[in-house]
Amino acid sequence: MSEARRQVEELRERFLAAVQAAADSESLERVRVEALGRRGRVTELAKGVGRLPPEQRREVGQAVNALKRELEAAIRARREVLAREALERRLREERLDVTLPPRERPEGRLHPVSHVLDEIVAIFADMGFAVAEGPDVEDDFHNFTALNIPPAHPARQMQDTFFLETTDAQGEPYLLRTHTSPVQIRTMEAGRPPFRIIAPGRVYRRDYDMTHTPMFHQVEGLLIDRRTHMGHLKGCLVDFVRAFFERDDIPVRFRPSYFPFTEPSAEMDVGCRRSQGQLVVGAGDDWLEVLGCGMVHPKVLEMVGLDPDVWQGFAFGLGVDRFAMLKYGIPDLRTFFEADLRWLRHYGFLPLDVPTTFAGLSR
Ligand code: PHE
Repeated sequence: MSEARRQVEELRERFLAAVQAAADSESLERVRVEALGRRGRVTELAKGVGRLPPEQRREVGQAVNALKRELEAAIRARREVLAREALERRLREERLDVTLPPRERPEGRLHPVSHVLDEIVAIFADMGFAVAEGPDVEDDFHNFTALNIPPAHPARQMQDTFFLETTDAQGEPYLLRTHTSPVQIRTMEAGRPPFRIIAPGRVYRRDYDMTHTPMFHQVEGLLIDRRTHMGHLKGCLVDFVRAFFERDDIPVRFRPSYFPFTEPSAEMDVGCRRSQGQLVVGAGDDWLEVLGCGMVHPKVLEMVGLDPDVWQGFAFGLGVDRFAMLKYGIPDLRTFFEADLRWLRHYGFLPLDVPTTFAGLSR
């Protein structure tokens, strides 16, 4: 074997060993430069081929080229192995427990009313109801007249309604809405049937005791379609309370009632008892009225230009604060609006616990 040929063989063994020995990509790169770089050993050898005696050139030239290709392949393979090892090492070492809370739990709390509103919206959204809104300051027409509340109706009298000093085009004073039912009217005025909406919001009445405050929250429901009946109303509301209280055995009763804008009308009570100052849902000696409901009165439909022989539906108005008291055992409604931080820390919710029907409402 010629001297040149021996050199090729020597470099081959040396560099192949060095490639295998490289422990990381930096040392591998150093080996590559030393062998195949512009001034590398193998490169120099290739440059020298032209100076060899003619009978050796061909053989040595081929051997050097073969060595270059072999080294390149070995380096590529080694680089892949090193990259895979590095990735595996990172995956092993940079372990992250994604179930751990990322930070300390936040200080602030969501008011039970906000949380319960989210719960109620989640349940009705699942049943296909969209959310609608209306103003807190209403006119006489939407709060009363369009809802078939005649001028002499007791609900209009001063002891119930907060009237404003400004008057509308008809000369009637504006008022703070006494219920969310005007949103029924605004929804039907603005769109075309069928309707399936809920309308959460604040309402105002001159009232104040353990279970009444001058401002409280309602969710209105309205469903208008071609063949709607009382069975749909009952099924919808019973499904709702079961979903809301997360129990299938909630005692519910419907009492015949009267509202000018529904016919027939009913009120729904939920069974409860008071024990050691706490309000507990379930079988007991007490009932708490939680909502009013009924089939939308034909006169209301006519008032918004719908033919009552074609379209019928049901409506309900539920007291959000009442539902919150019942579900979370809060005995006095007035405490809801006192903004007492200790009360909020006790009854409030963590802001990131968003209620959904699939992941849990209250947790
Ligand atoms: N608006 C009624 C109230 O505030 C509740 C209600 C709404 C009743 C819709 C029937 C239908 O008491």
